[in-house]
Amino acid sequence: MPETLLTTKFCCPECQGALKNGLGRALTCGSCKSRVPVVEGIADFVRGRFDTALNVEAYEQEHGIDETQAAELYRLIRVAAGHRWPNSLGSVVEIGCGTGFYSRGLLGNNEARDVVMTDVSVGMLRVCRENLHRRGLLAD
Ligand SMILES: C[S@@+](CC[C@H](N)C(=O)[O-])C[C@H]1O[C@@H](n2cnc3c(N)ncnc32)[C@H](O)[C@@H]1O
Ligand SMILES: [Zn+2]
Repeated sequence: MPETLLTTKFCCPECQGALKNGLGRALTCGSCKSRVPVVEGIADFVRGRFDTALNVEAYEQEHGIDETQAAELYRLIRVAAGHRWPNSLGSVVEIGCGTGFYSRGLLGNNEARDVVMTDVSVGMLRVCRENLHRRGLLAD
């Protein structure tokens, strides 16, 4: 099976071995044979061991997140970075993407070669994926 962003950027959480795209919906460690389930594009490295204390469904409403705010957040970060902002962001791993408040600007502005989003909460990743899909910002 061909390499993907997940297999090139992440390793086995049990032994740090290289991951391969296995048969079925999982990544498989080439060394210890552990499996990381992949469901609807989300690789579940956490497997119920951790979660967020935040209210996943109500998060955006509670924090007043909308398209205007998302665009403004990205703009403010760029302004704060000033001349340190690179011409291309290259290959990006976003840690703690939540519902995709920052991700929308990141993907909408096409400044990164590729982006992998991570969060300790699979629930947050589901909402993030749905948010990005609805806006046509997902590669698949
Ligand atoms: C305050 S929210 C911010 C979410 C998003 N970046 C935003 O700006 O709206 C913090 C997020 O980080 C996630 N998080 C907390 N600890 C984490 C960890 N160790 N690794 C990955 N994500 C984590 C939480 O699940 C939550 O979705
Ligand atoms: Zn392993």
